[in-house]
Amino acid sequence: MEFNIAVMGGDGIGPEVTDQGVRALEAVGRAFGHTFNLSYGDIGGISIDKHGIPFTDDIRAMSGDNDAVLFGAVGGPKWDDPNAAVRPEQGLLDIRSHMGVFANIRPVKVYPWLADASPLKADVLEGVDMVVVRELTGGLYYAEPRGRRQTPGGIIAEDTMRYTEGEIERVLRVGFELARGRRRKLTSVDKANVLECSRLWRAVATRLGEEYPDVDLEHAYVDACAMQLISSPSRFDVIVAENTFGDILTDEASVLAASLGMLPSASLAQVPVEGQPSVGMYEPIHGTAPDIAGRGIANPVGSILSMAMMLRYSLGLTEEAAAVERAVEVTLQNGARTADISSGAATVSTVEMGDAIVGAIGGA
Ligand code: IPM
Ligand code: MN
Repeated sequence: MEFNIAVMGGDGIGPEVTDQGVRALEAVGRAFGHTFNLSYGDIGGISIDKHGIPFTDDIRAMSGDNDAVLFGAVGGPKWDDPNAAVRPEQGLLDIRSHMGVFANIRPVKVYPWLADASPLKADVLEGVDMVVVRELTGGLYYAEPRGRRQTPGGIIAEDTMRYTEGEIERVLRVGFELARGRRRKLTSVDKANVLECSRLWRAVATRLGEEYPDVDLEHAYVDACAMQLISSPSRFDVIVAENTFGDILTDEASVLAASLGMLPSASLAQVPVEGQPSVGMYEPIHGTAPDIAGRGIANPVGSILSMAMMLRYSLGLTEEAAAVERAVEVTLQNGARTADISSGAATVSTVEMGDAIVGAIGGA
């Protein structure tokens, strides 16, 4: 089959890791006889440098004209001036919102061979296998009013958390549906003891729970959930959280997987339905890691696993997705370790990790 993919590496280590995602995609093409037509676009800081803005009309068009977007990361110290008129991160927020990808699916899988690279005890990590669904196009990231202004009493800065019932329902539904295909447990995260948005969130979760009597629904306050993620992570199956809570909880959850560099994500504009692929955006959950950018040592696994999620959710290539995931597993089992997942010295560079995974996918 033939597919069109937009590739946007972005800034920092974004392009380096995305290159390996693309190489692994091309290996899938050779092994399974598919053609992937790639078009490359600049977004974030590199777009600010070239065009003065982080999200151009070209990128807007590309995100609509393709079957999926494979994304790296955006941002960096070069564009960090708090008084700057434009920031790279706005490009990411714009593309998410333009594509309407409200559900950000972040699986957290623990590979037993990496247990010694995590600061947590091996027995705490045993049996950890969860998916966090982060709401991606609402809440504090988008709602107005926001901004900073001078008042006679001093500077005031404000952000707004706002959710409609519909926004809450559609993302929770993604969680319930995913739970049905897994261990049928859903943890709905909120701060309903304090926040009005969270009280609505909890009410919607409770109402939806009646539609899914086969799924065991629990409500958890975000602070308690953060603690349990580290103390008893294997108790979680599917977690659903609003935008900011989900952002924070998944960086925390990456410690279970030994490194932020390991975790992939899929951002979708609808509930995933087997056999009905839809347009999506795929990005590792890590940032641009400016401290290691350009050194060839970043971990490309998050990008490669994001590409596998793209095969599954946007291209309907289930078998191919599983082949990529197996290739990652075998490669890790064989001892390939970038610096971030190594308890001793790194055994491979970014490109060598890519080589090993490409080799394991086959199709040379
Ligand atoms: C992520 C990142 C982004 C976010 C930043 C770069 C805007 O942290 O994808 O998790 O907060 O969503
Ligand atoms: Mn984040």
